[in-house]
Amino acid sequence: MAEVKTERLDGYRRLIDIARDLASTLDLDILLSRIVHAATEISGAEAASILLFDDTSRQLYFQVATNMDESTRRGIMVPLEGSIAGWIVNNRQTVRIANVHDDPRFFSNVEETTGFSTESILGIPLVTKNKIVGVLEALNKPKGKFTDTDESMLLVLGAQAAVAIENARLFQQSDLISEFVHELRTPLSSLSTATYLLLRPEMAHEQRNQIINNIHSETMRLNALASSFLDLARLESGRVQFRKMRFSIADLFYECKDILSAKAMESNIQVRVESPEDVPLLNADRDKIKQVVLNLLSNAIKYNRPNGTVILRADVTENEIVLFIQDTGLGIPEESQPHLFEKFFRVREHESRAAGTGLGLSICKQIIHGHGGRVEVKSKVGVGTVFSVFLPNNNKSQPHVEPAKK
Ligand SMILES: Nc1ncnc2c1ncn2[C@@H]1O[C@H](COP(=O)(O)OP(=O)(O)O)[C@@H](O)[C@H]1O
Ligand SMILES: [Mg+2]
Repeated sequence: MAEVKTERLDGYRRLIDIARDLASTLDLDILLSRIVHAATEISGAEAASILLFDDTSRQLYFQVATNMDESTRRGIMVPLEGSIAGWIVNNRQTVRIANVHDDPRFFSNVEETTGFSTESILGIPLVTKNKIVGVLEALNKPKGKFTDTDESMLLVLGAQAAVAIENARLFQQSDLISEFVHELRTPLSSLSTATYLLLRPEMAHEQRNQIINNIHSETMRLNALASSFLDLARLESGRVQFRKMRFSIADLFYECKDILSAKAMESNIQVRVESPEDVPLLNADRDKIKQVVLNLLSNAIKYNRPNGTVILRADVTENEIVLFIQDTGLGIPEESQPHLFEKFFRVREHESRAAGTGLGLSICKQIIHGHGGRVEVKSKVGVGTVFSVFLPNNNKSQPHVEPAKK
């Protein structure tokens, strides 16, 4: 009895992980394959499949199955009338059958095509925003029948899956809004699964606390996401006015170091400011450049190693003032470097190390470009990273040099 309970709890906990996992991809194929594997895992079924519903042709077609390869599956259509999946779509209800061969709704064509013999089925409709997306079926429970618990867990998975599928389709229209919505759904699906779990009476005190902590951190992330997104949307729309003034870079560096000193101390990271005296005042929007330095410095701290170092340095060239933010951290794999400044991009290996939104560097780039500057990165895995911010040196009066004659 107690064992059954723990097993169920493990299953529910697994659902939280799965929900996060589902919300973290926009690739429809990857997503669907994750869903069917999760479905077999939580229901203990031999196989699982997803049929997607095509609104226009009003037909169901096999999209993915754990027990068929792509070439077998491709093109298998299932009619709305005379199939179990069709019945699920029409009635928007769950179906649980011990032996499909005794059921008049069973569509035997699939079995003939694939050679897979089905006995028991647990099928649920995938519905989001009152719209039916498809059907998720778990097939063949090796020992006995599908249970009430199997059904309720599959329903939770189905709810997450429907949202994720719809979302992946939405993303095909890829714009800032749909990217943002997708990012919102990761923390939101964690939150909704967490609250669902809190409502379970069998949840132990300790587990409740764990879930509440989870809710707290996801809420913080949502908050950060919302403000970063607004910043970025404003910058991208070109509505942001830069208010330029002359200021000392060294002072700005010390100010940023102070703001993040608690964060640096947590991992025992030393932040050093090394600005030569002769770097001239920068003529730029101080608040915005401060946002850039804070973003780069917080990354340098976040993706550092314990007892690491960060150096803030400035230099001047003929036409530019350059800010360097250098760390002794994890480094960035070469194949990730071209994507660093893309919205929502995060290095996969870093995701578990620190919380983030993947918007910081996009915001930096917008601000720097808005000032007529550019940003470069040099990095080596396991050694460290240096971000260089080049800003025009507006101190000199414009040189009146004749353009070179050709
Ligand atoms: N100094 C750094 N060292 C290693 N990786 C970094 C560094 N700065 C940024 N990155 C990588 O670039 C990604 C994007 O950075 P950013 O846009 O600031 O997002 P976030 O900080 O929210 O993760 C980070 O997730 C991280 O993987
Ligand atoms: Mg960042």
